[in-house]
Amino acid sequence: MLQEKHSVPASTISSNLTTVRGNIYDIESIKSTLISPNNPNHLVDTIVSGMGGKEPRFQLSLINPMTIEDPHICETSMASIFSAIDALAEKGVHTAVNGTKPLLVSVSTISLDQKRDLPYLYYILEFWLLRVMRDDKLKTELLIKADGGKHIRNFVLMRPSLLTDQPRGVDKLQVGWVWGIKKDEAGRPKEPGPKIGYAVARDDLGAWIYDHVIKEGGWEGKCVSLVY
Ligand SMILES: NC(=O)c1ccc[n+]([C@@H]2O[C@H](COP(=O)([O-])OP(=O)(O)OC[C@H]3O[C@@H](n4cnc5c(N)ncnc54)[C@H](OP(=O)(O)O)[C@@H]3O)[C@@H](O)[C@H]2O)c1
Repeated sequence: MLQEKHSVPASTISSNLTTVRGNIYDIESIKSTLISPNNPNHLVDTIVSGMGGKEPRFQLSLINPMTIEDPHICETSMASIFSAIDALAEKGVHTAVNGTKPLLVSVSTISLDQKRDLPYLYYILEFWLLRVMRDDKLKTELLIKADGGKHIRNFVLMRPSLLTDQPRGVDKLQVGWVWGIKKDEAGRPKEPGPKIGYAVARDDLGAWIYDHVIKEGGWEGKCVSLVY
């Protein structure tokens, strides 16, 4: 994809990207992705997870008309990442090179907040048709928010609308956010609230995460909604 779609030279990819073949049910492969490629005594600085379900299918149920191969894939994968961090800590690998625990960026979904981020047309989709996947994302978010610094130093939860493959450019994105953990804290910026919209492209979501969460910083603790 990097070569064909973005014309990145093969030499740049091989010198900057480490890929690990594995599976979220295989703790050893998860541990490999969490060790810094630059220093095996440290964890990576940032974990970005876009885990999602496979093989969506309809089933005979009025309550949950649609399901996927593993209805708990996102929650299970997050618990496995935390277990892998525990296993590495037992071997003396506790922190990233900068001395902190990794920042976790997790791609979640819309419809999980008290503040409305869902177009009315999507209510049936999210709360009925996609309920199994929505519940999994909700439990994953709860797991992340309950971590309290045990495995990660903080989180950024991305809450994109329906994902497409028709990018319009990051400058076309509307960006809203809310705090992931609600609390009254003096000096804490007031959340502007989510943006409501129908879609966002995978490319623009990824580019925005890189430009703003990874390079710019300052999104820790926030749930970010991105729509056109
Ligand atoms: N599609 C939407 O409209 C939408 C809307 C809101 C949020 N989201 C979320 O956005 C993210 C990306 O969505 P997408 O539609 O682009 O989904 P996707 O292409 O199906 O991506 C899901 C990812 O999960 C990986 N995965 C699944 N099972 C795995 C396993 N057992 N072990 C390791 N990796 C596994 C897949 O890896 P492989 O490709 O190698 O199998 C793939 O990279 C997901 O978190 C999704 O829940 C999607």
